[in-house]
Amino acid sequence: MNTAIIVAAGKGTRLESDRPKQFLQILGKPIIIYTLERFEACPMVDEIVLVLSADEINGFAPIAERSGIGKLKKIVVGGDSRAASVKNGFDAVDPASAIVAVHDGARPLVSIDEIGLTIDGALESGAACLVAPVTDTIKTVEDGVITGTVDRRALRRALTPQAFRYDILRQALSGSLLDDSVTDECSLVERLGISIRPVEGDPRNIKVTHPDDLKRVESLLKQYV
Ligand code: CTP
Ligand code: MG
Repeated sequence: MNTAIIVAAGKGTRLESDRPKQFLQILGKPIIIYTLERFEACPMVDEIVLVLSADEINGFAPIAERSGIGKLKKIVVGGDSRAASVKNGFDAVDPASAIVAVHDGARPLVSIDEIGLTIDGALESGAACLVAPVTDTIKTVEDGVITGTVDRRALRRALTPQAFRYDILRQALSGSLLDDSVTDECSLVERLGISIRPVEGDPRNIKVTHPDDLKRVESLLKQYV
């Protein structure tokens, strides 16, 4: 069996809305429900662990049930950093899970194929990360001066999900300082010296981060509904 941890315990400070972004409605449905629906529909996912803030946890289970998210087995309270929230979610994962996939609740455009291919990658290699190409030319800057151009063919944007064999993620999350400097699980797994398979994802699998992202996500979601 495979488990997905969906982290949705953040405050969404960059979006500057009254309620954390994952609970904002787009086309009449909260962002987090779109995300959960994609994992519900993926045959490679057996169970979902959802991480929410203490402020939002009460009353969410019936909403998920009404939305048909039957794979949602546990809802746990998050931590002060994204990594701490992932750790809390991991502590609730059934240790019988072969693969644990971690996904941002604020990425509602993830496709069922992307989830399946990332889990497949982790089943084959131990660790896999959904990535997208970098399309801009990237410069280095020092003291206000451009000092060089990075070869973008070697660069990828890290998306989610990121998926790992249970023991690899356990090891990555234990003993590390899980503060705001850790923005994804792959960076922890890289520190263990374990190689991670990149899985080509869709650049449209964006994370809702800034106010402008809401309009973009709405227009992309219209293609699905
Ligand atoms: N997240 C979490 N627990 C935290 C911080 C973040 O579960 N303590 C989750 C968010 O809810 C989001 C995902 O991690 O689904 C990606 O994080 P990010 O986009 O940074 O969300 P926020 O931290 O909520 O936003 P901001 O950084 O703008 O405050
Ligand atoms: Mg954040």
